[in-house]
Amino acid sequence: MRLAVSKSGPLVGSLRPSSDKSLTHRAYIFAALARSPSVVMEPLRGEDCENTLRIFQQLGAATSPHPGEGVSISPPQSLRQQHDPLDCGNSGTTMRLLAGVIASEPRLRATLVGDESLSRRPMRRITDPLRLMGADIEGDTAPLRIEGKRLRGIDYRSPVASAQIKSCLLLAGLRAEGETWVTEPAQSRDHTERMLAALGIELLSRSDRAIGVRGGQSWDGFEFSVPSDISSAAYFLCAAAIVPGSKVVLRSVGTNPTRTGVLEALADAGALVEAAPGQEQMGEPVSHIAVVQVPGLQAFHVAGDLVPRLIDEIPVLAVLATQCEGTTTIRDAGELRVKESDRIETVASNLLAMGAQVETFADGLAVTGPTPLCGAVVDAQGDHRIGMAFAVAGLVAEGETQILNADSIR
Ligand code: S3P
Repeated sequence: MRLAVSKSGPLVGSLRPSSDKSLTHRAYIFAALARSPSVVMEPLRGEDCENTLRIFQQLGAATSPHPGEGVSISPPQSLRQQHDPLDCGNSGTTMRLLAGVIASEPRLRATLVGDESLSRRPMRRITDPLRLMGADIEGDTAPLRIEGKRLRGIDYRSPVASAQIKSCLLLAGLRAEGETWVTEPAQSRDHTERMLAALGIELLSRSDRAIGVRGGQSWDGFEFSVPSDISSAAYFLCAAAIVPGSKVVLRSVGTNPTRTGVLEALADAGALVEAAPGQEQMGEPVSHIAVVQVPGLQAFHVAGDLVPRLIDEIPVLAVLATQCEGTTTIRDAGELRVKESDRIETVASNLLAMGAQVETFADGLAVTGPTPLCGAVVDAQGDHRIGMAFAVAGLVAEGETQILNADSIR
């Protein structure tokens, strides 16, 4: 798919951005492993989450539409042996969380495959600790061939702050012998922990910030209404902050503090953003967020513990930075190199094509502005967040911006 975007007039209005991807994956997984049926309302119907849902159907979960944009999920007695590969598509969350589930289901054999991008992404970050738990896994990149085993708990210090690693190990730990503990160098999104607590599962914690679970726990089905995704809201927030005359209200956005770094970066840049509380869902705070375009945005800085709290928003924040006065720096973000694309390179090469001033580092970027952007042919390289970020850039560029390889926006 090729997208064409032209310079926009003021963005004025109110919308509910699409539902949260991280929460939809987790809701499907916890529903498929529960003791009784669940209803997930307003799940994200994007391809990544549909892959998770389809895989659990393959493994025996029965699903049906629920009135009012929901999905009912009836878990199988036990996960069903499946001879076809489990296709995670482009979705790292699907593959990493699923690996923890399959590896801990005794005798279940499965091969996890993904598209070209996912097949290049590092899986050792989960296969290493799962093997320490006793898992039988062949491969450190997809395809991963897994034979489920009765695992034993470990105390694991993850070298990377990653909710996918943490969630993979907690899911495996829930079905393992003994306790499984995970420590990470900085706090990553804590949706799994909040969902566990909401389901009545005891979450263990230690003074060194480790979190843990005891094996052998089960939970009842639940009803969960998925809030909208702050990572999707970020495109509208940044667009409204830079398109002159804009005034946008985003409704029912998940504002879990482990995800709201983008709001801090916008405030740092001098953008006018206000949040009012909405209806909490399963321990997840929800807000309505208003943004009004104001002139005089300033450079901002992203580093350290803030990085995991806005990791997915960095491409669009780099676009925002082109419209800010001064040099914005983004450091400690080497993880960007192993996302759906090498986001440091894809952001830099596309911004350069549009006339921005950009420097790259091993762990980040510097963007100097303000620069008038010009329409150009840019390449999303199959990465949804790059496609969306450059759709925002196109709204303020002179002339037409064409975005190649943008299919993954679906
Ligand atoms: C996700 C965690 C993040 C994020 C991804 C979704 C999740 O990845 O980039 O889009 O749902 O757990 P890492 O955990 O690898 O940082």
